[in-house]
Amino acid sequence: MASHSVVLGVGGGIAAYKAAELARALMEHGVEVNTVMTGAAQEFVRPLTFAALTGRKVITEMFGTGSSDEVLASSVEHIRVAQENQLLVVAPATADLLARFAHGLANDFLTTLYLAFQGPVVLAPAMNTAMWNHPATQANIETLRRRGHHVIEPDEGLLACGTTGPGRLPEPQRIGYFVWRILAQRHDLDGETILITAGPTREPLDPVRFISNRSSGKMGYSLAEAAALRGARVILVSGPVQIPAPDGVELMQVQTASEMRAAVMSRLAESDIIIKTAAVADYHVANIPRQKVKKTAMRLSLELDPTPDILAEVGAELSRSGSGQLLIGFAAETENVVAEAKRKLQAKHCDMVVANNVSADGTGFESDENEVVLALRTGEIIPLPRASKRALADQILDEALKLRLALHQGR
Ligand code: PMT
Repeated sequence: MASHSVVLGVGGGIAAYKAAELARALMEHGVEVNTVMTGAAQEFVRPLTFAALTGRKVITEMFGTGSSDEVLASSVEHIRVAQENQLLVVAPATADLLARFAHGLANDFLTTLYLAFQGPVVLAPAMNTAMWNHPATQANIETLRRRGHHVIEPDEGLLACGTTGPGRLPEPQRIGYFVWRILAQRHDLDGETILITAGPTREPLDPVRFISNRSSGKMGYSLAEAAALRGARVILVSGPVQIPAPDGVELMQVQTASEMRAAVMSRLAESDIIIKTAAVADYHVANIPRQKVKKTAMRLSLELDPTPDILAEVGAELSRSGSGQLLIGFAAETENVVAEAKRKLQAKHCDMVVANNVSADGTGFESDENEVVLALRTGEIIPLPRASKRALADQILDEALKLRLALHQGR
């Protein structure tokens, strides 16, 4: 089930077709989208497009066309929709809609809903440059901003009317991300420092070759982003990955297990929660040749030494100190997932181990989704069904906070 639901108000402009992409972008963030279209919007895009994309009814008019019962039900629908959704996003917000919102007109479903709506409002205006620059529009924008609404400035570029200037609807993904960030800000991690490791390590074999693994960093970066949006100060210790660090996160880039260990240890004391998502290589070459190893016809054998087990070292230190910092390890397993999670929980003195079956299709390494089982120090086992790594990140943080409360109360 989606954890957030929004109303997507679609105004009548040439950019209305992009609202369909916005609906999709929001749904990719796990947001339920309830579309309301103005009469003019329906001249540009058919309601069926949104109904098919969102799988939900699209509201197109104030009063139903059928029986008196239907009319009665629809006459209070704007109140119900206003109460059942957390955020109202309007894209494209036309000059006409901005004016009607600014002046409190309630002459169709969307404007009536707007007046009844008490949550955050995001407006993404799109129109001809002259209309956007017109003092009337700018005055309406100022009124709406002062009312506390979020206005996403239109992009500059070539417009449908052939002129160039501000007025283009920003990329739907950008609007979707903005909306989702507002929804995601729960702020239950305000004041916390969370240390997260992510990605693979690379253990050199010679100056040009290394041992590594398929970790993309997606799971760890999802946790970092989720924690940051919930208010935490996040220190992200990351091996080499191809994805950008989330906004607002302090990134420490490392290559090897030993560099990761040094980074983690240097920031351990200031961290309230430590989450070790990284796929640390278990072995490395102790004496790395200075020159590239030459190819010969002979079989080549590698002599490998174990890398430092960072999680075990942190676990031992925290259990010695009794500091109350929460330690969460991950476990990448291909069989006996729960048993292995329990074993690692004990062996590495963790408070929680997040175990994933990395041999399952579409989960684990590289994928956008995962399916995990949480093994807790309290003895509880919590399976979290398959979901996007980003959604799971929030669930893992939720369970971590509950666990910390339970552990502190049990002291
Ligand atoms: O990055 P993605 O593509 O999104 O993939 C995510 C993931 C599959 C890498 C992630 O979900 C995951 O399972 N991470 C842990 C991978 C791993 O190394 O598991 P492990 O069972 O070998 O290690 C157990 C724990 O010890 C891990 O928390 C690991 O970070 C830690 N460890 C392991 C070895 C070592 N030398 N030092 C460590 O700290």
